[in-house]
Formats: sequence, C-alpha cells, structure tokens
Amino acid sequence: MTARTLDTTEEGLAKAAAILTAGGLVAFPTETVYGLGADATNDRAVARIFAAKGRPHFNPLICHVPDVEAAAEIATLADKASALAESFWPGPLTLVLPRRGDGGLSRLVSAGLPTVAIRVPAAATAVDLLRRFGRPVAAPSANSSGRLSPTTAQHVLADLGAAIDAVVDGGACDIGVESTIIGFADGRPTLLRPGGLSVEAIEAVIGTVAQTEGSGDPGSVVAPGMLASHYAPRLPLRTNAAQARGGEVLLGFGRAAPPGPNLSKTGDLIEAAASLFALLHELDQGNATGIAVMTIPDHGLGRAINDRLKRAAAPRPAC
Ligand code: TXA
Ligand code: MG
Repeated sequence: MTARTLDTTEEGLAKAAAILTAGGLVAFPTETVYGLGADATNDRAVARIFAAKGRPHFNPLICHVPDVEAAAEIATLADKASALAESFWPGPLTLVLPRRGDGGLSRLVSAGLPTVAIRVPAAATAVDLLRRFGRPVAAPSANSSGRLSPTTAQHVLADLGAAIDAVVDGGACDIGVESTIIGFADGRPTLLRPGGLSVEAIEAVIGTVAQTEGSGDPGSVVAPGMLASHYAPRLPLRTNAAQARGGEVLLGFGRAAPPGPNLSKTGDLIEAAASLFALLHELDQGNATGIAVMTIPDHGLGRAINDRLKRAAAPRPAC
C-alpha cells in the first residue's frame, strides 16, 4: 500500500471522509501534530491504527470531535471539564472523561478503560474533516511506535506511507507539540501530559491542577495512559490455555479452537485485536469461574494482545 496524498479542497476532504467511512486510515493535520485517524466506532479500523504504528501494547487513543456537543454524546462532562471545554476548545487540550455507555465508541479506543480521551482540534482542516465524516475520529500522533511526532505530511509519508491509506496535506502544524492532557480521577483535575496549552492557563480557569508523578518531565510523555489503572476482568484470566478447566470459559483463537467464543476463527490478528476488549467484557459478565485464553502468536498485533492479556492475568492487588 502507498498512501495517497489528498489536498484540503472540498474534493480532497470528501475523499478522506469516504476512506474513514470505509474503515481506512487517514493521517490529517491538527494544530498540534498530524494524527493517524480511523473511525472511532469501528473496532477493526481502530485495530488497524495499532497495526500501522507497530505498537507493542494498546495505549488508549484520543477521540477527535468537531465540537463540545459531539463530545457530550460520547462522554460525561462534569463542572470543571465543562469549564475547560468552554474556555479552551477548540484547541490543544485533551480531556479524559467517563465514557457514555450509549456513545457507540469501540472499546479498543480506550483500551478497555471506563474513560475516553477527547479533543476538539482548532485546525480548520481537521474540523472540516470531522464535520464531513460525522463520527468521532480516533487519532494518535501519526508516527510509528517510538518515533517522533510528525508536523508535516512529508514526515508522515516517510514514516508510515506504506502502512496507511492517505494523508491530507495541510502544511506544517502551527503548534508542533501534542495537546495537554487533563484527567479527573476521583474528580480531581490532574495533569497527565504537559503539551500545547499551559498549565497556568488551565489553573486560571479551574484552580489547582494536581501533577502526576513525573508529569512535569517531558521524558514522561510516553504513555500517560499507562498511569491509569487498566481494565482487568472481574474473573481470573489464564493465558496459553489449550482447553478450559473446571468452570472456566475458553476464549479461542484460530481454526483449531473448539466451538465457542473465538478472537478470530481465521487466525487474523487485526480481527483478534478488534474483538479483544468486547469479548473479554462479554465473558466477564457470564457465569464462568474464569477465562482461559488460547495461545496468540507473538508477532504483529499479537504482541499487543499478549501484553494486554499478561496484565489481565497478573496477580491482582489485594483490596
Ligand atoms: O495533540 C495530540 O494530542 C495528538 C493529535 C493528533 O491530536 N494526539 C496524540 O495522541 O498525541 P497519542 O495517542 O499519541 O497520545 C494520547 C495519549 C496517550 O499517551 C494515552 O496514553 C493517553 O493519551 N490517553 C488516551 N486515552 C486515555 C485514557 N482514557 N486515560 C488516560 N490516558 C489516556
Ligand atoms: Mg504519540
């Protein structure tokens, strides 16, 4: 695959929206950095983001929407979040908010967490694309895992040109660093990642913002999502299982699996990643005593799936 370069005319953006609708990947400019966009309501499209970036784990992604009304359809904005949205959206601010159950978002977007990161970008091209597409767009920075965030379409093409469907070339990004991320765990505003909007500006609106350990250190911008306690199923989980024991339910993979829930009957790792969180949630609601997951090949998206399963299987802290 070689990415097409689209321009910011009506025709270019209509093509970009059509690719998103078809479940494809489109990189697009925001005022911070270029994002690698996919339909945030489509599990498979979101799984393709992780495959294209070569991410060894499922970091939760930011959902981009054109305005605060669209944000309120997928998440709940309490007082302080509303005040920040009012003051700084559109702009380089991301809010981590409780997900709404009826918002239609892929569970993979927030890596199984009960929260979702949302941003209303200011760049005209991004807003225009979001309005045309009409659904939330999941978009991490459009670079492969471990590489620098791109601020031009050329950066995106050099790095990911072979892995994505298209890039909308809107020239260089104005701000050039990622958005500032604020979360509200326990209702307390907390800085999860410093970025394009200053903490001073935020504190002028909502008062003191707590700093997470190391969040003032630019080296810690790697994975604020890892700071949040990740979703772990209620039931104990066992990996590399050949069959279910006792009251366990077996979560299969591939053709060799017995009949029953299966991450991908054809052994397709993108499909497996797309259904992982939804299937874990579903099995967790059932009446089994545990979840036994068959071996998943440890390459491509299989690495991210195995990383996630290892965390879900790890001993739980006593509570
Ligand atoms: O400026 C930006 O924010 C760019 C543009 C494209 O919008 N996007 C961006 O996305 O930097 P990304 O995926 O590279 O960084 C998003 C960060 C991740 O490190 C992730 O851990 C965190 O946001 N995050 C996303 N959802 C979260 C959640 N529910 N809880 C905690 N952290 C979350
Ligand atoms: Mg990034």
